[in-house]
Amino acid sequence: MSKLIAPHGGRLVNRILSGDARLAAMEKAKSLKKISLNTREIADLEMISNGAFSPLEGFVNSKDYESILHSMHLSNGLPWTIPITLSVSSQDKDKLARSEELALYDMCGKCLGIMKVEELYPADKKRESLQVYKTDDEAHPGVAALYQQGDYYVAGPVSLFDRILHDDLTKYRLDPMETRILFEKKGWKTIVAFQTRNPVHRAHEYIQKTAMEIVDGLLLHPLVGATKSDDIPADVRMECYEVLLKNYFPQNRVVLSVMPANMRYAGPKEAIMHSIIRKNYGVSHFIVGRDHAGVGNYYGTYDAHHIFQEFDPRAITITPLFFDYTFFCKRCGGMASTKTCPHDKDHHVSLSGTKVREMLRDGIVPPVEFTRPEVAEVLIKHSK
Ligand code: ADX
Repeated sequence: MSKLIAPHGGRLVNRILSGDARLAAMEKAKSLKKISLNTREIADLEMISNGAFSPLEGFVNSKDYESILHSMHLSNGLPWTIPITLSVSSQDKDKLARSEELALYDMCGKCLGIMKVEELYPADKKRESLQVYKTDDEAHPGVAALYQQGDYYVAGPVSLFDRILHDDLTKYRLDPMETRILFEKKGWKTIVAFQTRNPVHRAHEYIQKTAMEIVDGLLLHPLVGATKSDDIPADVRMECYEVLLKNYFPQNRVVLSVMPANMRYAGPKEAIMHSIIRKNYGVSHFIVGRDHAGVGNYYGTYDAHHIFQEFDPRAITITPLFFDYTFFCKRCGGMASTKTCPHDKDHHVSLSGTKVREMLRDGIVPPVEFTRPEVAEVLIKHSK
């Protein structure tokens, strides 16, 4: 029996067809009404079908939608903080009203699979944005995406013909079943995951390595779905992680793999989802630092820590590892946080994101206390 943490809900979902069922579904799809999914919905479809969103087998119905918004749990009682929905316009809703099944298409016109239509229901956008994002300000990228999509949701289980294919980062795209097999092969029982959407800097490295002191291995798990336009593209970030791992980490204690989800910037609510997702990938511990999945000033620095208190740890099961704001302290002569450093701010190396971007654009390597020079070289190369 597996020694790894059980998936959320106890069973790893697999909604990718094979054999005769796959061929029959492909034939059936030809006569079904079509629905085209946007980038975020495709990423969600991938996460549902490969089990990263276990126990979801499809896009959520109104009962789960209500339950998530009202109580941060699915209607079956499992913790869940962001509704995973498939939107349709009001015209499409009328067209689809009597369909029992739909064919799911990507934006290039490729049919990916089929969906059983359980329900069509109106989105409560204002309430959803206030509950999930804590704001209905359309300057928030998650809220903006919500307001741009259709006004109705179509719910039901999905079945894909094949796993979603990507032409980039292919060697890093491990599904939850594959990371689980890899961890077992390595003999790891305790694994800490690190979520990130940014190029790696010294604070990231410090909290990863601090966590590595107490577990068997690290899953460095950058999110590579869509992020906001001023975030650094995934391929550049991957190059940063590669040079960091090559030069500063023991190779046999780290797995670098990617997570296909889009960033929602839902701060604390997304921290819970990020942990549940990593649990499905077989991970026992999850790092939550300062302003996890935050954007602008919508969330308090440690809201993503506090939200865990609202859940029964026996239901979440993955262990969150909370880290305060970390920095290099010149007096300490190393990385530290307010929990470990007695010196005042004048001794701390702290650079704003804007300042770092300016330096990199001008070909200046930021101080070694802020970023590893090998990582800075990659960023400079790509900012020209
Ligand atoms: S995030 O959107 O994925 O959270 P980012 O890639 O910047 O953004 O952060 C990855 C993880 O590192 C998050 O858990 C975040 O809270 C944490 N983190 C980033 N910078 C720091 C820091 N200076 N001190 C402590 N934690 C940090």
